[in-house]
Amino acid sequence: MTSAGPRVRGRFTGTLGAVAATLGSAVGLGNIWKFPYMTGESGGAAFIIVYVIATFLIGLPVMISEHVIGRTARSDAIGSLRKLAPKEPWWLIGTAGVIAAFLIIAFYTEVIGWVLIYIVKAFSGQIVTTDPSVTGAAFGSVISNPWLALGLQWVVLAGLMAIIIAGVSRGIEAMVKRLLPILFVILLIIAIRSLTLPGASAGLEFLFKPDLSKLSFGVVLAAMGLAFFKLSVGMGTMITYGSYYPEEQDIPKSAVRVMLGDLFVSLLAGVAIFPAVFAFGVEKAAGPSLMFITMPTVFSSLPGGPVVQSIFMGLFFVLAACAATGAALSLFEVPVAFLEDHTGWSRKRAAIVTAVALAVAGAFPALAESWLSGVKIGGLNLFDAFDFASSNILLPVGGLFLCIFLGWRWGWPQVKEGLTNKGSLDNQGMVRFFYGVAKLISPVLILVVLLGGLGVLGG
Ligand code: PHE
Repeated sequence: MTSAGPRVRGRFTGTLGAVAATLGSAVGLGNIWKFPYMTGESGGAAFIIVYVIATFLIGLPVMISEHVIGRTARSDAIGSLRKLAPKEPWWLIGTAGVIAAFLIIAFYTEVIGWVLIYIVKAFSGQIVTTDPSVTGAAFGSVISNPWLALGLQWVVLAGLMAIIIAGVSRGIEAMVKRLLPILFVILLIIAIRSLTLPGASAGLEFLFKPDLSKLSFGVVLAAMGLAFFKLSVGMGTMITYGSYYPEEQDIPKSAVRVMLGDLFVSLLAGVAIFPAVFAFGVEKAAGPSLMFITMPTVFSSLPGGPVVQSIFMGLFFVLAACAATGAALSLFEVPVAFLEDHTGWSRKRAAIVTAVALAVAGAFPALAESWLSGVKIGGLNLFDAFDFASSNILLPVGGLFLCIFLGWRWGWPQVKEGLTNKGSLDNQGMVRFFYGVAKLISPVLILVVLLGGLGVLGG
C-alpha cells in the first residue's frame, strides 16, 4: 500500500498509546538493574533524593523539549533539527544521538541476552544457591563464553527487529501495551514477598530514610547521569517518539506522567529488592553484578523450598526482560527512523540493515570479557566504556545542546506554538516554568555533570 504513494510516517494510535510507548522506553534495565545497584552503592535514600531532583530539573525539561521538537518537525532525530534550523549545525546533536543509540543498544542487548539465559537458569533451578561464589562463577561462565555472548545478542536483535518491522503502532506500541501490565504485576508480587520477610524494615529504612552524610560530589554526578539514561533523553529517542505523537497530545502533561510512572517503577523495584537483601544480610553494594550474582542468592534464601525459590527468581528475570524490551525498541527505532526518513528505504529494509550494524557494534561489548578482554579504553573494558561514553558523555552533551537549542535558538513563541494542542495550551504557568528551567537551569546543571563525569571537576 505504501510502496506506491509517498511513505506514510508511523503514528501512535492515540494519546494513551503514546504515553504507553514512551513509558515503555523509559522503563527498562535502568529500573531493575542500574537504579538498584547505584542506590545500593551510593547510600540509599540520599542518592534517591538527588536522583529525583535531577529528574525534575534535567530529565523532565529535556524530555518535553525533545517531544515538542519531534512533533513539530515530524522527522527523525537528525531530520527534525535540520527542518527546524535549516543550514545550521544543530543537526549534529541528532547525529550524536544516533551514535549514542548505537553505543547503548550495543551493551544493552547483551544484558538482555544475559537476562534471557537467566530466565532459563532460574526456572530450571540451576542457580538455587546461597553461596555468592557459586552464582559468581555461573555468571562468569556466561560472560566469558564468546559464542554464547554473541549468540544471545543476535537472538535479542532478531526479536527486536521483528517487532520494529511490524511498525510503530502495531509493533512497538502494541508490544509495550502488553508488557507493561505483566511487568507491574510481577513487580508487585515480588515486592509483597520481599516486604513480608522478617527483617524487611531495614531495607525500607535504607531506601527511604536519608543519611545525608552519604552525599558526595560523585553521588550527585551518578544521580544526574542516571536521570538521563532513565528517561531515555539526550539522544533523540524522545525526538523520534515525539514525531509519532498525535496532534492532540498534551506534551508536558504526558511527560510528567511518564516521569512519575517511571519513578514509581524504580521505587517499587527498590522495594522488591532491598528489604530482601537486608533480610538475608547479603552484600548491597555489589555494583553491576547485583542483579546476576547477588539477586539469585537472595531468592535462594526465600522460605518455601527450591521450587518456590526458583519461581520467584525466574519471575524476577522475566520482569527484567519485559522492562528491557520497550526500552530496547525505542533505541532500535532511532537509527531505523533515520534510515526511513533519509533513504526512502522500506521499514523492513531499514530494520534489517540496522540489526546487522548493531550486531557488529554489539560484538565489542559482548566480547569484553572473552576475546576482547585485553582491550581497555581509559582503564575500562569495552562493555563499561560503551556505558560510560554514552551515559556520561553523549547523553549529557546531547541534552545540553537540546536545551540550548530550545531556549536560545528556537525561543518561547515557537515552543509555545509547538506545544499548543489544537489552539490551546493548558497549565501555561507550569509550561513556562519548565521552559525557563530548560533554558537557564538545566544547561548549567548538565555542564556540571559533564565536566564532573570527565573528571575535570574531580569527585
Ligand atoms: N531508559 C532506559 C532504561 O532505563 C534506557 C534507555 C536509554 C532507553 C536511552 C532508550 C534511550 O533502561
